[in-house]
Amino acid sequence: MSPLIIPRPDDWHVHLRDGAALAAVAEFTARRFGRAIVMPNLKPAVTTTELALAYRDRVLAALAPGGGFEPLMTLYLTERTAPQEIDRAAASGCVHAVKLYPAGATTHSDAGVRDLERVLPVLERMQERGMPLLVHGETPGAGIDPFDREAHFIDRTLAPLVRRLPGLKIVLEHITTRHAVEFLRAARPGVAATITPQHLLHNRGALFAGGLRPHFYCLPILKREEDRLALVEAATSGDPRFFLGTDSAPHARSAKESSCGCAGMFTAHAAVELYAEAFEDAGRLERLADFAGRFGAQFYGLAPHRETITLVRRPWTVPDSYGFGEDALVPYRAGETIRWSIEATGSVP
Ligand code: NCD
Ligand code: ZN
Repeated sequence: MSPLIIPRPDDWHVHLRDGAALAAVAEFTARRFGRAIVMPNLKPAVTTTELALAYRDRVLAALAPGGGFEPLMTLYLTERTAPQEIDRAAASGCVHAVKLYPAGATTHSDAGVRDLERVLPVLERMQERGMPLLVHGETPGAGIDPFDREAHFIDRTLAPLVRRLPGLKIVLEHITTRHAVEFLRAARPGVAATITPQHLLHNRGALFAGGLRPHFYCLPILKREEDRLALVEAATSGDPRFFLGTDSAPHARSAKESSCGCAGMFTAHAAVELYAEAFEDAGRLERLADFAGRFGAQFYGLAPHRETITLVRRPWTVPDSYGFGEDALVPYRAGETIRWSIEATGSVP
């Protein structure tokens, strides 16, 4: 099979963490992607432009010089965020979106939003400024079945928000259901979604294959096979509203293999290669270039890269773990093979 040459892709949703964890994972992303939307759910959260710029410096300092990777920073929306913070973010040229975590929905979301009414002035300012809102689309709370939280959020919170702010750019992050795909297809312009590799490659059966599998636990949780098939169809359909966002979310082994394990799967070590598998399985490899390298940039108003990366169908075995500060990081598919490898990065002639 001939090599697959695609524009250097961008990751429109990644967790790079901070400190020793950042140092351990940043290169995996920077080696594959030209840019990445860097999630702000640190402890404490990245709630201001000033914090985002300082975090950006730490990300760049964690990388080998000359790689050309550009971290695109985000702000963590809280009920105390001022509309003027959006002005500062827009003026910085380095903050590209604002993230909405419903409080309690996922890892480090406790500083997030409980009452959407309270952030409306900020959302209106974002609409004016063309600053996209990135949404963790799940309704938290014990009263809602964990497998229904995305659908519940779309119907009760997102749909009304999309109508109320008709000019706000919105990305529904890491979609996991057929319901989300159908919502996106019917939505007004300016509403898009990212899709992770794990949600293209697995259904919820992976969580229980022969025993409880903590390394398949992420939020939103893996769903049914019919949902996975709808996501594959959306990602490979050529519809520009669906684009790449790995949601690679590293946690130490001890935090995953625990009586109360953290949500998050680490996929950055093989991110593009995994999407190649999913697209190949769907018989749509030729659609990977747009999904990975063009549609996201288009949504964010950025030019696609002139550089390319070359993927070859050469299997490799994923290590059992990577170093992660004092602990270890168990990557997705640890000890197993991945069919695709990255051969080279280069420039378009
Ligand atoms: C993410 C994390 O660990 O920060 N976890 C996850 O399961 N995806 C948070 C998130 O994006 O929900
Ligand atoms: Zn995430």
